[in-house]
Amino acid sequence: MKSNTIVLLDEKRVFKPSVETVERAHVKNWENEIEKGKDFEKYWEEKAEDIDWFQKWDKVLDESNKPFYKWFVNGKTNLTHNAVDRWINTEKRNKVAILYVNERGDEKKLTYYELYREVNKMANALKNLGVKKGETVSMYLPMCPELIISLLACTKIGAVHSVVYSGLSVGAFVERMNNAKVKVLITADGTYRRGKIIDLKKISDEAMLQCPTVETVVVVKHTQNEIKMSELSGKEIFYDRLVEGEPAECECEPMDAEDPLFLLYTSGSTGKPKGIVHTTGGYMVGVSTTLKNIFDIQPDDLYWCTADIGWITGHSYVIYGPLLLGTTTLVYEGAPDYPDPGAWWKIVEKYGVTKFYTAPTAIRHLMRFGDRYPNIYNISSLRILGTVGEPINPEAWIWYYKNIGKEKTPIMDTWWQTETGMHMIAPLPSADLKPGSATKPVPGVSADVVDEKGNPVPLGTGGHLVITKPWPAMFRTLYEDEEKYKNVYWNDIPGVYKAGDMARKDKDGYFWIQGRSDDVLKIAGHRIGTSEVESAFGSHPAVVEAAVIGKADPVKGEVIKAFLILKEGYQLKTKLIEELKEHIRYELGPVAVIGELEKVDSLPKTRSGKIMRRILRARDKGEDVGDTSTLEE
Ligand code: PRX
Repeated sequence: MKSNTIVLLDEKRVFKPSVETVERAHVKNWENEIEKGKDFEKYWEEKAEDIDWFQKWDKVLDESNKPFYKWFVNGKTNLTHNAVDRWINTEKRNKVAILYVNERGDEKKLTYYELYREVNKMANALKNLGVKKGETVSMYLPMCPELIISLLACTKIGAVHSVVYSGLSVGAFVERMNNAKVKVLITADGTYRRGKIIDLKKISDEAMLQCPTVETVVVVKHTQNEIKMSELSGKEIFYDRLVEGEPAECECEPMDAEDPLFLLYTSGSTGKPKGIVHTTGGYMVGVSTTLKNIFDIQPDDLYWCTADIGWITGHSYVIYGPLLLGTTTLVYEGAPDYPDPGAWWKIVEKYGVTKFYTAPTAIRHLMRFGDRYPNIYNISSLRILGTVGEPINPEAWIWYYKNIGKEKTPIMDTWWQTETGMHMIAPLPSADLKPGSATKPVPGVSADVVDEKGNPVPLGTGGHLVITKPWPAMFRTLYEDEEKYKNVYWNDIPGVYKAGDMARKDKDGYFWIQGRSDDVLKIAGHRIGTSEVESAFGSHPAVVEAAVIGKADPVKGEVIKAFLILKEGYQLKTKLIEELKEHIRYELGPVAVIGELEKVDSLPKTRSGKIMRRILRARDKGEDVGDTSTLEE
């Protein structure tokens, strides 16, 4: 296990839900719901009734070709039908679906009806560009209405979307585009960040030089960054021109429950990022059920998840979950502390946000500015808070609970992954909470903590976190790599899904997630593979070889520490350090935060040539390096 992750073993406090929270909740008894979920096929079948199907399924779960599970076999449906079209003939027709707000204070509201029309125009436009069912469309966009419209337009016509997070840069962008052989890219002139405009078009232009499959680039005029936008090349077209004159009606493509819905790349311990494949039917059932129960979505809610749409949390719980439930989702573009550290609380007050979902790193960052900022605003509209992305340390949990939740609002610590598609270990509002524990598997999900062989470890002992039964929103494979899908997740510990996290279970059956067991870094909640960072360093002319580990950071959780073997004649001085930082920024983007660089003469390796990062981590912390029998030099 990586030893620098935050370990939360001794927290004993228990927080009970208020009577008001329980009375209001859809699910009033957490433990009963968990019991109900034990008959998991029946449980998910019941939940699937909340979705509109064009044709009902023949079988809930097909396990005949493990680990290639199928859910709602032969069911036919469409996500955009469920997230948008179905609300048009209900009382939600003129309800706000998307409330877009940015750090400059601009806002834009789209009702379900307006969203319906915009999605249809874009769906027709994509068809005109020749996009067919099953083909991939990519987005490199800021948090903006056009991103959401484009995603829903894809799912309407059965195109597969593959969003590239706009905080990733050229190298990472090119890799994702080429792996998925993308034909159409949708990008923008820029994004607002801390009073500046980040020129996304420039990054996209550089990436496009290396993306031969892309035939059309659609450009959203989002920031009016006119200078850079004056000339478009032959294959580029403005978004507003593209949709101009398109009919505001478009039929939904009937999709099989198992038809691919989207691709989303994420990092593993080795090699290039993996294309996680999610499919249509089960994803909708899993995501809408978990959001409804865990965030207790009610008709009068204003729901805000601060995650970027470029990550799975943005897919499942900024867009799809809320829209599948017909709620209003607030989409925010900007940083948490701009123009000042009260920015988020000001928005909560202004719009009356009721459900708020963010990451521990953001809480830790805002905590540093003390209690003052949340106290300036009236944030008493909040009823449920959530966190996701990394373990939350009890100090941050308590700060959040006291200062944002005012000791009356429960915190849903949700453990899940790009692969799982939906919340997997998380409480419901009626649960007793322990700060730092994501509590228990959500109803309908089964998880355990086991040793290398798959045997459950004694309570209180650390082990591998595994999921023991299939779940509806599970990923179905890795894009064009079934072998890796089997090997990385299912073969190590046979019969179960290995999550790649270490955890322990306490005497009450609560899970305490301790961090990754592999060489995946979590920098401010963002997932980055050490091997990606190492190859980015390796592509700089001064570097012979690099080894990367995570170094604990009080706000970001982890940052990068790199050990570098430099070419003859290079010194690790200010100029080269700046150059290397710039190089990593260019290759990977600002998500790859460098904490420390160290010049070394050699790297510890096994006889087969694998870098022993364990030894580097121990050395870095001044600890005993342990067993070195497999070390070559
Ligand atoms: O290590 C776990 C951590 O984030 C990983 C998944 O990262 P990603 O696929 O980027 O998805 C993040 C958002 C769902 C997990 O393997 N993680 C996520 N949520 C938690 C967490 N660790 C502890 N507690 C959580 N609530």
